[in-house]
Amino acid sequence: MDNFMMIETGVQGKIGLITLNRPKVLNALNRQMIHEIVQALEEFDRRDDVRVTVLSGKGRAFAAGADIEEMADEDAIHMEWMNQFADWDRISMIKKPVIGAVHGFALGGGFELALACDLLFAADQAQFGFPEVNLGVMPGAGGTQRLTKLIGKTKALEYIWTGETMTASKAEKLGIVSRLVAPELLIEETMRFAASLAEKAPLSIRFSKEAVYKALDYSVYEGMQYERKNFSLLFSSEDQKEGMRAFKEKRLPLFKGK
Ligand code: CAA
Repeated sequence: MDNFMMIETGVQGKIGLITLNRPKVLNALNRQMIHEIVQALEEFDRRDDVRVTVLSGKGRAFAAGADIEEMADEDAIHMEWMNQFADWDRISMIKKPVIGAVHGFALGGGFELALACDLLFAADQAQFGFPEVNLGVMPGAGGTQRLTKLIGKTKALEYIWTGETMTASKAEKLGIVSRLVAPELLIEETMRFAASLAEKAPLSIRFSKEAVYKALDYSVYEGMQYERKNFSLLFSSEDQKEGMRAFKEKRLPLFKGK
């Protein structure tokens, strides 16, 4: 893997690991760090030996937002020319599952990065929120869109307008977090889940991820046509034959992603 400065990466079994590594500034997300996260995600997406990626943060936070030091003196025209959010867009193009393991603060861009994951496991002390209104800005890396799709206009506006933090248990009730875990078990439990996901038929996981995201943008009818095509496509895979043969032979299937 590339020589990263802002993140650590590794592979455990079939799981790619990305750990945000600026703990002194609570993993504040500067442009280089986002670039490295995207590079690592894309590399894991291409590798045959990796089936799931787990994203977490080192130190006492997942990420306390975009790096305020870096953007405090920015001007709008320079930001437009940099097209810095293009890297964030690339996260949406990752095809394999990305599971976020969130502890401590997930604020501003940190919350947006969490929302860009497919599923979130959270320590029960985690705190989510959009404090941008206290800085004279607003969420800029997908927060207004992803949060609204997830929890609806009313609650999204409430959190975006007040800047209040949301407890992990509230985030779980609102459907943002998939599972709550004791902080000391967060990585272990997330890895356990990721490992079980890595044993499922990879193409089934991939095509169902695509289809579920279509549900956020398409009408039900159009989404169902998309789903049907992916469903049919899976019948051209070896894994579909293996999965159904294994069922009939009363044994566990061995999936290859082919
Ligand atoms: N950017 C840059 N540095 C940050 C940071 C950020 N987002 N968040 C924390 N830090 C730094 C602090 O400046 C501090 O550095 P020093 O030790 O050099 O002073 C260090 O991390 C530790 O932070 P605190 O001492 O503040 O820790 P705390 O426990 O007292 O407070 C906190 C924690 C409430 C999260 C507080 O750090 C905070 O409010 N951080 C900013 C949160 C925020 O506003 N995030 C939104 C950013 S804007 C954004 O993300 C826009 C977007 O949509 C893309």
